[in-house]
Amino acid sequence: MLDPWQLGRVELANRVVMAPMTRNRADEHGVLPEAAVDYYAQRAGAGLIVTEGTQPTAAAQGYPGTPGLHTDVQQAVWAEVADAVHARGGRIFCQLMHTGRISHASLVPPGARIVAPSAVRADLEVQTADGRSVPAPEPEEMTPDDIAEVVEGFASSAARAVAAGLDGVELHAANGYLLHQFLAPGTNRRTDAYGRTPAGRARFVVEVTRAVAERIGADRVGIRISPGGQFNDMDDRDNDETYVRLAAEIGELRPAYLHTLRRRSTPLHRTLRETWPTTYVLNTGYNGGSELDDVAPIVAEGAAHLVSVGRLFISNPDLVERWRHGHPRAAWDEDTFYTGGERGYTDYPAWHEADGSAASSAPTRRGAPA
Ligand SMILES: Cc1cc2nc3c(=O)[nH]c(=O)nc-3n(C[C@H](O)[C@H](O)[C@H](O)COP(=O)(O)O)c2cc1C
Repeated sequence: MLDPWQLGRVELANRVVMAPMTRNRADEHGVLPEAAVDYYAQRAGAGLIVTEGTQPTAAAQGYPGTPGLHTDVQQAVWAEVADAVHARGGRIFCQLMHTGRISHASLVPPGARIVAPSAVRADLEVQTADGRSVPAPEPEEMTPDDIAEVVEGFASSAARAVAAGLDGVELHAANGYLLHQFLAPGTNRRTDAYGRTPAGRARFVVEVTRAVAERIGADRVGIRISPGGQFNDMDDRDNDETYVRLAAEIGELRPAYLHTLRRRSTPLHRTLRETWPTTYVLNTGYNGGSELDDVAPIVAEGAAHLVSVGRLFISNPDLVERWRHGHPRAAWDEDTFYTGGERGYTDYPAWHEADGSAASSAPTRRGAPA
């Protein structure tokens, strides 16, 4: 767990990945605050940081306060983040996220449409630019031109990521966002070449991966999936073949890694692990737990090369050092996950600061481990 690992062209100091986590602190232009430079630098002890979900184009945004990577100003702050993480010996991939049907007209540019593989509305509430919750809109089915435009958007944003000095990108094909919406039968009702069969449902994600790999090199590209996941009103049942097909096709490109969210181990997970040709990353957080005792056996038994850990990294910027030395872990405060400015963001102390006044002035934490 705490030994180095070669990931594509970069060496990671250890096998612990900070999982991607949306923090909604960017401004209305999708520009990260300066505090984000500290936030990521504080967490550079992770072998790899995967950033919060980031829109590759303005039309890909689905929540207020998520950052973009499609303008020069956005890119400039990402460059500062990359420099700060590298200066502390860390590595960082930017997660590119197009939210598809999980969005609202107030979050995308005037005239942009909310698109998805098919016109299937999510039965949930989405957020508006000013933070209200309203019923999700019915998305428009993507045309071939829309598909080409989104593919190009991912590729050009990935080029910006590399230009900013980030080590690579992770394509977000999990948790009910656009790429997952193509993979899952409940949201993909298409009858053209992008639907109907496992190969059809996988096609769009394969095309995005190929385009991004051609632009920046496959060894700078990771991809995150959540087979069977129900988050965001998804119906992804009986769909193992699509994931097997997807992994086989993109595996030929030899991307840096495949990152799977797993609630319980199934034959599909074993197949993916056994057939995936490069680094395999597992996140068992929501069900299996993300403490050292939960994740160390995953690496020891070979169920994955790397494990990703989410919430513990919010409240323990120096998580790997705490694990290494057996220091206690601080609990996280859910109330500041998505709000709060620098509170709950950059004010969780590292262990050596965590005694005396720093600890006693910290806010009351909830939802926590020990
Ligand atoms: C505040 C928060 C924001 C998240 N945002 C994202 C995201 O932007 N992209 C993503 O793929 N997963 C996201 N996730 C899921 C995490 O990457 C991870 O899978 C989850 O937290 C479970 O792992 P854990 O139990 O170690 O926290 C988010 C989770 C949390 C708690």
